[in-house]
Amino acid sequence: MAKKRRSSSWLAMLAVLVILGIALGPRLAVWLGGDHGAETTVGGPFTLIGGDGQPVNDTQFRGKWMLIYFGYTFCPDVCPTELSAMATALDQLPAAQRDKLVPIFITVDPDRDTAAVVRDYAAAFHPQMVGLTGSAQQIDAVKKLFRVYSAKAKSDDPAAYTVDHSSIVYLMGPDGRYVTHFAYGTNPKDMAATLAKTVQ
Ligand code: NI
Repeated sequence: MAKKRRSSSWLAMLAVLVILGIALGPRLAVWLGGDHGAETTVGGPFTLIGGDGQPVNDTQFRGKWMLIYFGYTFCPDVCPTELSAMATALDQLPAAQRDKLVPIFITVDPDRDTAAVVRDYAAAFHPQMVGLTGSAQQIDAVKKLFRVYSAKAKSDDPAAYTVDHSSIVYLMGPDGRYVTHFAYGTNPKDMAATLAKTVQ
């Protein structure tokens, strides 16, 4: 009698597991697949404008690790903080590793951020940092590729508006593909540690 009860409760447990598996399996697959998919679809081919006013496209950075940040030069605090963190992280790396990286600042405010403005702004944070702008269409396209949000805030003075924007640092591999990202406020030491073990 006791033996029979044990085997029937084992069977009941197996039935519950099978039902759970059937119910959750597809969801789990979608969840895992979706997460992976999100990572593999960040980034892609872009054409922008470099500091000299000439077109720059993503293939020109092949072989280097791109550390990409989107923002705007009038940004009062978020962009300067994050770009400083990137620069500090870079300077904590051995020179050989640092040379394999290209820090890139892409403006989300091409109306005010001309080629010369982004070039000088980026260079002020780090001598290696590349500043890129583009036409409104080019910037919209690259923002879409990197899932960047930005929107001009309403302002009484049309020249002094601020821009709300997402603040994420993307690390792209030498093949141009997404590797990882750093959330806003990541400690430069932690960023440097991740770069040190990732960039080869
Ligand atoms: Ni900003």
